[in-house]
Amino acid sequence: MLHSNYFNQDCRDCPRLAGFLDNVKLKYPDYHALPVAPFGDPGARLLVVGLAPGMHGANASGRPFTGDYAGLLLYQALYDFGFSNQADSIALDDGLILSNCRITNAVKCLPPQNKPSGDEIKRCNRYLAAEIATLTEHSVILALGNIAHQAVLRAYGLKSTVAKFGHHRTFALPDGNTLVSSYHCSRYNVQTKRLNMAMLAEVFFTIRSLLDSRGE
Ligand code: URA
Repeated sequence: MLHSNYFNQDCRDCPRLAGFLDNVKLKYPDYHALPVAPFGDPGARLLVVGLAPGMHGANASGRPFTGDYAGLLLYQALYDFGFSNQADSIALDDGLILSNCRITNAVKCLPPQNKPSGDEIKRCNRYLAAEIATLTEHSVILALGNIAHQAVLRAYGLKSTVAKFGHHRTFALPDGNTLVSSYHCSRYNVQTKRLNMAMLAEVFFTIRSLLDSRGE
């Protein structure tokens, strides 16, 4: 498999999550209901890190933020800033191709109530760390939400206090990559107006200029 060291579809390391997925599969036999693989360009210099698959989105479709309200702003922004060939992500066979971008999650399995435990986030972190280790020089990591932000710091072995989470904050990582953080594009954040398209576009302007200034 393309990304065997940073993704394992057979992983059952978190008993609570594995058991939950087993039950979800019984209730929704057509759903993917397994760990969700990263999606996109294997040689990408932009790695987008979400939280975890959503029940009726990534967990159903098998692709991050796909068939999910949380994907609406994200995939639109990726298209607007030249990282994809279409503005929405509906299903595995929708023809979407990401260029120079890959999307992954801090936790690869659907957690009950969308809330992974601290231990689950820690256990899954080895996959994120392995994926980050494959990035080429001067990459950008976009963390969507505080949990993704903390997971990226953990993957680097950094203390959470070295970089406070905030919308549109950037942090120079020790290997020359840059962490850019954003409020998560969840339905809740969008509907409560914590995040809108203009705010996400500002983040993507920064990402674009970081990638372009460092020789794409
Ligand atoms: N879907 C994902 O894949 N990740 C998120 O963080 C939210 C929805």
